[in-house]
Amino acid sequence: MTDVISLSIASWDQPCSAAEQEYALRALEWGSVLLFPQLRFSIQDGESRLLSPTIAGEGKNVSLDPSSGTSRGSDADEAELRLLRSMMQRFATSSKTLLHNLLPRYEAGLQQARTSFRPVEIAGRSTSWRKDDTRLHVDSFPSSPTQGKRILRVFTNVNPHGQSRTWRLGESFEGAARRYLPSLPSPIWGTSHVLNLLGVTKSRRSPYDHFMLQLHDRMKADLAYQPEVAQSVHDFHSGSTWIVFSDQVSHAAMTGQYALEQTFHLPIDYMLDSSQAPLRILERLLGREMT
Ligand code: SIN
Ligand code: FE
Repeated sequence: MTDVISLSIASWDQPCSAAEQEYALRALEWGSVLLFPQLRFSIQDGESRLLSPTIAGEGKNVSLDPSSGTSRGSDADEAELRLLRSMMQRFATSSKTLLHNLLPRYEAGLQQARTSFRPVEIAGRSTSWRKDDTRLHVDSFPSSPTQGKRILRVFTNVNPHGQSRTWRLGESFEGAARRYLPSLPSPIWGTSHVLNLLGVTKSRRSPYDHFMLQLHDRMKADLAYQPEVAQSVHDFHSGSTWIVFSDQVSHAAMTGQYALEQTFHLPIDYMLDSSQAPLRILERLLGREMT
């Protein structure tokens, strides 16, 4: 079962010792959640009015492209939008600084993707089963193929009322892959090019992306698996931050409101032990290359 491993880092730009760097690298690559119980992301004066579910309009998240500064998913007015973007941009920068200090091995390979603000209470949110993140799953997104690159995410709970964000954590990636792989259909030849031409995907959906999406869907659709698989519950308290390879760690977000999240992609060559990458595990189990 997945562990949550803590480190006592308390500021976003704190230098990290070689021992902390080594500990963090191994914990993440072996599928633990790395928790910083004292690492709080401070909401500044004036920003507390952003802590309202209405800022996300009809959706559940607001997202920002930190390189261009453009946002999606909020219908707030121009003044509020500016404030929101600046808060999210500050989180994007803080996360990047944290990883720079904590994971220097990844520095040259990390690609900063979107930043998200999650102001809607998770419990009771209505979504299709495929988008229902209260079901255990590994992350894989239909429109964003990674072609084997890792998905590394930094979360922070900024709930102003002290409410935790509660996750379930399930079995190892290899456990889930062994369970479902034998019954997953192979990709249909030519489909990935059609999806790309039609603009359904932002880049080519490789065989790896095909199997990851299938795995994501099968885990979520399996209503017997959800309560029965070995799992633990973890409350990420308000004022804490955690990092996870979410393509590897089985997770389900059960309750909580007001979090920020930053996604990074990492080519597996930068890993200390790329044999733990989902790509390599799937290749090993299927006995074929998948890029
Ligand atoms: C998820 O990635 O499944 C959602 C995590 C969260 O919003 O806490
Ligand atoms: Fe997820």
